[in-house]
Amino acid sequence: MEKLLDLLSAEVGAAFEKAGYDKELGKVAVSNRPDLCEYQCNGSLAGAKKFKKAPIMIANEVAEALKESKAFEKVEVCPPGFLNLNLDGEFLKNYLDEMAKAPKYGLKEPEKKLKVIVDYGGPNVAKPLHVGHLRSAVIGESVKRIIRYMGHEAIGDIHLGDWGLQMGLIIAELKLRKPELPYFDESFEGEYPEEAPFTIGELEEIYPFASKKSKEDSDEGRAFKEEAMNCTFKLQSGVRGYRALWKHILNVSVTDLKRNYDNLDVTFDLWKGESDVHDIIPGMVQYMKDGGYAYLSDGALVVDVKEETDTKEMPPCMILKSDGASLYNTTDLATIMDRMKNYHPDRMIYLTDKRQELYFEQVFRCARKTKLVDDDTDLIHIGFGTVNGKDGHAFKTRDGGVQRLEYLIRDINDQMFAKISEGREMSEEEAKDTAKKVALAAIKYGDLSNQASKDYIFDIDRFTSFEGDTGPYLLYTVVRIKSILKKYGKEVDITNGLHNYTNESEKKLCMQLATFNAMMENAYDELAPHKICAYLYDLANAFNAFYHETKILSEEDEEKKIGYLRLLKFVQVVMESCMDVLGFSAPDKM
Ligand code: ARG
Repeated sequence: MEKLLDLLSAEVGAAFEKAGYDKELGKVAVSNRPDLCEYQCNGSLAGAKKFKKAPIMIANEVAEALKESKAFEKVEVCPPGFLNLNLDGEFLKNYLDEMAKAPKYGLKEPEKKLKVIVDYGGPNVAKPLHVGHLRSAVIGESVKRIIRYMGHEAIGDIHLGDWGLQMGLIIAELKLRKPELPYFDESFEGEYPEEAPFTIGELEEIYPFASKKSKEDSDEGRAFKEEAMNCTFKLQSGVRGYRALWKHILNVSVTDLKRNYDNLDVTFDLWKGESDVHDIIPGMVQYMKDGGYAYLSDGALVVDVKEETDTKEMPPCMILKSDGASLYNTTDLATIMDRMKNYHPDRMIYLTDKRQELYFEQVFRCARKTKLVDDDTDLIHIGFGTVNGKDGHAFKTRDGGVQRLEYLIRDINDQMFAKISEGREMSEEEAKDTAKKVALAAIKYGDLSNQASKDYIFDIDRFTSFEGDTGPYLLYTVVRIKSILKKYGKEVDITNGLHNYTNESEKKLCMQLATFNAMMENAYDELAPHKICAYLYDLANAFNAFYHETKILSEEDEEKKIGYLRLLKFVQVVMESCMDVLGFSAPDKM
């Protein structure tokens, strides 16, 4: 379906043409003086020079030609030559009726269906998720859903950090604590136990302990680090016991990660990791050498990625360290190669902290230069800002530690549960389920409503408020509609046609609904969930203004009443579609 603004521009364009001017001059925009009109067109001013005529004269002629148009109820010429326009009610109603019947409320199917890999989440195995992991998961999930909603194919890949020194650190520490385990006995030839020799709790204690020890400036610290590197090397070169132990670490950790991401309603199609490309690295390195892309510099293998136009420092992309070990870069490049071979995506989108911006720039340039990707494969990095506490510094627990995501979510759930249980008739189970939904909306909307690249303040009190620009306020609006429709009791079908608006607040609400397709397209083009958030908030406000001004169920004119109810239902389904794309949903009551 055409976007409303395009239709209006075509209408005004035709009037320009009829009056003897270029139809391109008829571009209509939302008015920047909403006190005067709803839309405006400034084409007469632009055309004045070319047609050597006063803008006001052009505008008058166009206004005359627009008299026949059914799109506007008001066309006003305003000096020096603006066209002030108000939308016609019948035209708006017809547009919404068509939208109600169209798939995805009038959003166009793409001409070419793209295949997109969204690389998000990116947790490191054996490290608990913390607040910093929230953004990649929440924004990435929404970006993936936006792409799907637009009609493209999106594949979500978690890209686990499961292969580097952190694995060696855990193995080295386990070796000290439990040397009797068969994994360390090189002469062992039997089957290794199926059960992991640790729990997730132990694993999460071991990693930070080992990591801290390896950084100590002491003989013990240095020796331990050496041993951890040795373990990493053995793991990567395929020593059987080390691989078996690593599999345990991975399984235990992934089970825990799945539980955590499930709580956030974040799901991945691929649970691949850095380790998955280990075997293809030698081939890739050889290819880069043979192609003359990679060369030795101080013993390390590098690819230059500097371009003449660079104004900032652009260090070469390191492929192998001087000891032959691979790096974060290496696995990312090999992953690109692997994805091209197995999925051949049109785009790959990465979501990480914006501090990795330069890193991705290097990797993308290297991938392009070495032709790991086709020229028409897009590589996109979405870098997001930091989650801060109310003090403006990185979000911490009360005692200054890193906040575990699991506990944070649990606390917000509890808080929400207490709020919802207060004097409400709901079973405990229903209240728990509702609390979970509201808490999730509070957390996700609190994040997504900010432009991704900006830092934001994680303000639980604000996020969980039922008023203002918050997730719960949006849910509350949908719940309010659901409850009115429930009271009405009969099925309401939006495809049976709305009525012409009856007051200004209803018109505003209808106009807001009518911009859904344009908004969604824009959110997709810019990969910007915050645009959907802003739309939802405006829609909820427009609805609530209408609701406070209008008798709905007590309306005596039956036709009017059903018109209102269809509009309500329409607002509900559009809001729910937006929420689904953002990754949360509304309960029935709250
Ligand atoms: N594990 C990485 C980290 O903790 C994030 C991974 C992001 N994705 C990627 N393909 N590099 O920083």
